[in-house]
Amino acid sequence: MLKLGVNIDHVATLREARYRGQPWGEPDPVLAAQISEAAGAHGITAHLREDRRHILDRDIWRLREVVKTRFNLEMANVPEIVAIALKLKPDIICLVPEHRLEVTTEGGLDVVANETALARTCAQMRTAGIEVSLFIDPDERQIAASARLGCEFIELHTGSFAHEFNDAAGRERELDRLTAAARQAHSLGLGVNAGHGLNYHNLAALHRVPHLVELNIGHSIISHAVTVGLSTAVTEMLRLMENYPG
Ligand code: PXP
Repeated sequence: MLKLGVNIDHVATLREARYRGQPWGEPDPVLAAQISEAAGAHGITAHLREDRRHILDRDIWRLREVVKTRFNLEMANVPEIVAIALKLKPDIICLVPEHRLEVTTEGGLDVVANETALARTCAQMRTAGIEVSLFIDPDERQIAASARLGCEFIELHTGSFAHEFNDAAGRERELDRLTAAARQAHSLGLGVNAGHGLNYHNLAALHRVPHLVELNIGHSIISHAVTVGLSTAVTEMLRLMENYPG
């Protein structure tokens, strides 16, 4: 069965847009994690960025307490965040490249160029009993390097597939790349996850890619929740206004 990891960063993005710097705010990403799990999600993903633009330190500690499935901490391979992960002990970390000016994670990790630094972090995580996933483009050299590091999973970057989805030739090309990458990774003993840009329209096409274990999806689920939840939210507010005596 294909598993779903729900990325709750965008719930925190919305909270920070109104409540930045305050000890409380809504919507609460931890409550979103609990609702996602109750609905059947197999894991919860949160990205603690160096600039703390959405998920905050207090969120990850509460998530560690309440997440009952699998807590996947997405993070850059930098000493400050590595130290936090080693204390926090999420079930798994997903190492991603991080650039301050990007809106969301853009490209995959360059495992080939950063093999030494990544090897050190993988070894630290292994000692701490934390699994490691590397977010990479569907590229033969990156997969081979990931296998050399002995990490448990790779997460294939599906951003190009999502971008090309409406162009038949581009979509086929990207699906072929993802398929070849998944086959190579599986043959090398790596677990294969995928994510970025997946949504309610493009998901079915991804069924063609073999060996997938888990999809990490954030933006489209949180966006869809606003649409499908808005009717209930308006109804509840109207109910609170019903007994106005004036
Ligand atoms: N996987 C990784 C490694 C990511 O960085 C992101 C974006 O934070 C996602 C999955 C989810 O992407 P999206 O929000 O487009 O579903």
